[in-house]
Amino acid sequence: MPKNNPVILSVETSCDETAAAVICSGKIVSNIVASQAIHAEYGGIVPELAARAHQQHIIPVVQEAMQAANITRAELDAVAFTQGPGLLGALLVGTSFAKAMAFALGIPLIAVHHMRGHILANFIEPPYPTFPLLGLTASGGHTQLVLVQDHLRMEVIGETQDDAIGEAFDKIGKLMGLSYPAGPLIDQYAQQGDPHRFKFPATTMPHLSFSFSGIKTAFLYFIRKAQKEDPQFVAKNLCDLCASIQHTLVGMLLEKLTKAVAATGIKTIAIAGGVAANAGLRTELNRLASQQAWELFIPQLAYCTDNAAMIGIAAHYHYLAGDFSGLGVKAMPRIAL
Ligand code: KG4
Ligand code: ZN
Repeated sequence: MPKNNPVILSVETSCDETAAAVICSGKIVSNIVASQAIHAEYGGIVPELAARAHQQHIIPVVQEAMQAANITRAELDAVAFTQGPGLLGALLVGTSFAKAMAFALGIPLIAVHHMRGHILANFIEPPYPTFPLLGLTASGGHTQLVLVQDHLRMEVIGETQDDAIGEAFDKIGKLMGLSYPAGPLIDQYAQQGDPHRFKFPATTMPHLSFSFSGIKTAFLYFIRKAQKEDPQFVAKNLCDLCASIQHTLVGMLLEKLTKAVAATGIKTIAIAGGVAANAGLRTELNRLASQQAWELFIPQLAYCTDNAAMIGIAAHYHYLAGDFSGLGVKAMPRIAL
């Protein structure tokens, strides 16, 4: 018989962070993340290396989360894991780990959708948003507008047709010689730059769809041309380039968000995903929200980028609904919301 105050261990291994958290009665009591520095030298995530690093980190990260929470295995009521979307080899590590642990302890197993976890990160700490809400998930793998009816009922109403916004930040950063992941570096340099110095053509897409691959190409041609005249162009103008491209990318996101509010009439907005950590986005969004009388929710930084606390909070609501998985459940690199 499921309890209403479950103690859940959650693991997240979808990409390049090995993470574990313990959540008791819907409150996060520990949240451990081991990032994989190995990918920086390759300028992007190498799936094979990510899987190997997860294999290496998963046991110590889980042990640390259990110790920090001061919880024994016997006290656990369920084990949760990220089922997808993500890199198959990476997901398999967390999936297999969670299955083995649930099987050994004889407790329920909970499969969590990574993007649902990102949205539910807004329910980790009060004040909590009310339903229905509009979720905007902006990460390295996804850019989605989501109509959220409650903790478990969500529907994608708009998404990117090509690159994700985080991917655009990373690829554009790479063109400027910044290391991976370039998103946080662009954010940092942008703080000393002029966002109106350079103009880049924001791609227009129908309805609530996004496209971020064209802007990357436009940026490439722009700097190539400028570098012909001055090979030091990027180095000399790095802060202004970062501020201008960030302003353009953020503008593309906010334009669709504004459209989604108009289309749904929902003014409760919850932002999520790694790009929600972006200071420029946070500032422009706060300004827009107060102008438009939106109620805006942004998780604290540690809950924006990949973490297991967001998988834990999603698992908590699955648990309360009695929504468990059998041991035959599979990792799913591509899985609908
Ligand atoms: O959600 P996340 O940790 O992993 C995925 O599920 O993809 O997002 C990672 C993405 C990367 O593309 C990274 O460059 C971007 O989020 N990111 C940022 C910032 N922090 C992380 N992008 C812009 N500004 C930031 N401060
Ligand atoms: Zn993510």
